[in-house]
Amino acid sequence: MATATEPEPKLRGDSAVDPKDASRGPKVRAMFAGIARRYDLLNRIISGGRDQAWRRRTVKMAQLKGTEGVLDVCCGTGDLALMFARHGASRVVASDFTPEMLVLAAAKAAKAGVKLPLLAADALNLPFADAGFDVVSVGYGVRNFQDIDAGLRELARVLKPGGRLAILECTPARGLIGRFANWYINRMVPWLGNKLTGSNDRAYSYLADSIQLFPDAEALKQRLQQAGFTDVRYRKLNLGTMAVHVGTRKV
Ligand SMILES: C[S@@+](CC[C@H](N)C(=O)[O-])C[C@H]1O[C@@H](n2cnc3c(N)ncnc32)[C@H](O)[C@@H]1O
Repeated sequence: MATATEPEPKLRGDSAVDPKDASRGPKVRAMFAGIARRYDLLNRIISGGRDQAWRRRTVKMAQLKGTEGVLDVCCGTGDLALMFARHGASRVVASDFTPEMLVLAAAKAAKAGVKLPLLAADALNLPFADAGFDVVSVGYGVRNFQDIDAGLRELARVLKPGGRLAILECTPARGLIGRFANWYINRMVPWLGNKLTGSNDRAYSYLADSIQLFPDAEALKQRLQQAGFTDVRYRKLNLGTMAVHVGTRKV
């Protein structure tokens, strides 16, 4: 949301889904279904091979202890969930509302020999009891929520009091780096998306527009506090174009 001192973000306007549409859930699902097969390849290419390092950083900041159970929401093809499983989580469950993504996550978990229960579920209406998980994670998912605040409250609901939420997300960047990041995400990424996924380049226009509309790192911190999290901290990554937020569910 732009303030009096900030100009309204300039959007491409040709994205597959209108990121301002509060009922965009089914369209977001259809868009991810369309790019699922090439999703991992595009991630590696557009991040310059860094995306797994950012997921590792997210796991590290979640500070897993002993025998904790993790829920990875918006798991996509399973990279963050598998990262938690490899780094000491005793039990990881993953959910996403796009079946095409879950099929790929299941294949990846089987290949890695990791037991990963997968569920088709909307992050805003999770089929889990209150206070069931020690850690909840979301990688590049919160930006897609139809209602960010309702989604954060739902994540808080399924966390045990004292449990941690870890969010890895793109964040709007400012200044010179912001100008370069905007050029890259607005011009290069849709072009690469077009080359590699054919007709689905507009999904990568959605990426650009949804980042522009997403709260910056400080604003997301405040939204997390409003949703029932304390000790919220964040670390910016990739020259400030990405951030990991961690917060503790109030006891
Ligand atoms: C950009 S991908 C991220 C996948 C994965 N977490 C990663 O780190 O690569 C976003 C995923 O969120 C899912 N998603 C978006 N909105 C959702 C919602 N409201 N409920 C559940 N899944 C959602 C999409 O289906 C997609 O698989």
